[in-house]
Amino acid sequence: MTDLAQLELDLTNAMHAADTTAALEEVRVAALGKSGSVTTLLKGMGALSPDERRIQGPLINGLRDRLTVALADRKAALEAAELDARLAAETVDLSLPAPPRRKGSVHPTMQAMDEIVSIFAEMGFAVAEGPDIEDDFHNFTALNFPPDHPAREMHDTFFLKPDPETGERKVLRTHTSPVQIRTMHRTNDKPGAPWIASGQEPPIRVIAPGRTFRKDSDATHTPMFHQVEGLVIDRDIHMGHLKWTLETFVARFFELDGVEARFRPHHFPFTEPSAEMDIRCDRSGGELKLNVGDSWMEILGCGMVHPNVLSAAGLDPNEWQGFAFGMGVDRLAMLKYGIPDLRPMFDADVRWLAHFGFSAVQAPSAAAGLS
Ligand code: PHE
Repeated sequence: MTDLAQLELDLTNAMHAADTTAALEEVRVAALGKSGSVTTLLKGMGALSPDERRIQGPLINGLRDRLTVALADRKAALEAAELDARLAAETVDLSLPAPPRRKGSVHPTMQAMDEIVSIFAEMGFAVAEGPDIEDDFHNFTALNFPPDHPAREMHDTFFLKPDPETGERKVLRTHTSPVQIRTMHRTNDKPGAPWIASGQEPPIRVIAPGRTFRKDSDATHTPMFHQVEGLVIDRDIHMGHLKWTLETFVARFFELDGVEARFRPHHFPFTEPSAEMDIRCDRSGGELKLNVGDSWMEILGCGMVHPNVLSAAGLDPNEWQGFAFGMGVDRLAMLKYGIPDLRPMFDADVRWLAHFGFSAVQAPSAAAGLS
């Protein structure tokens, strides 16, 4: 056997003996590296006579080319095998049970929100939504706030910078009531403009949960808070429907057979008559008890939808009536779960959340219980 044939045989054997890409790389360097055996042969060709070079040249170059191809093939095979081994070693067993430690929990406000939604859903209400950044029309004008009326300031409104082209000043919605307009709205606000069907046809039965904003901050107020709005529009709707719906809701929410409520006259521009709903309670001894005692606790605002609001939304007030209500979700959560101060609700302190938080896998439902 010639020296070249022996070299090729040795290198081929070494290549097959290499069982990792790192070992194969050593073989490659030993043959084709700077001072590798094949490289040395190639370099040595310059010292050969032209006749010898004509014979040896193709032999050495052929050896180099075959080795290069064989090394690449072997490398690909080893890499594939190494990948397979890694995939096998790093398998995740998805059937393993999750660790028992609870990592996250539902915030009391969101728990109360889910409970409220589940109670109203059972009563046949759908969920409606609107944007957090509202225009003046939906937040005020269509809700019968007169232009430049102090009521607009009364809400401690956060105004955005005016649009440089139109001068329009958007607001962070001060309540969820604009969703009433968005849900009912069947016309353009410009007189004589064609009807658009962005809203729903009555009868309407919706609640609108969401974030609301007012410049206010103390133990019972935060600049961002949550409300749930309710709206019912149909023919022949009256205060009796409102009273039953809200009393039934409050009893369900506090998990009582019934509540003793009173409806105290109030004023909202968008309802007539307007009322605040109070429930009987006892606060003595630092603990809140419902349905007993001589105190009354305000729970929500409500009333019959003002005819001007129906008109602004393109509904004929002679044909349609309805009632609306709005409640503070954070406040309801505080009452139900005995949370004395509103501010920690938004501190994002995980210890507080772990104490008051609720299971993320047990959604409240009428059948399974609320909380
Ligand atoms: N939007 C009122 C508020 O934020 C609540 C309300 C809603 C009152 C609907 C009446 C009817 O105070």
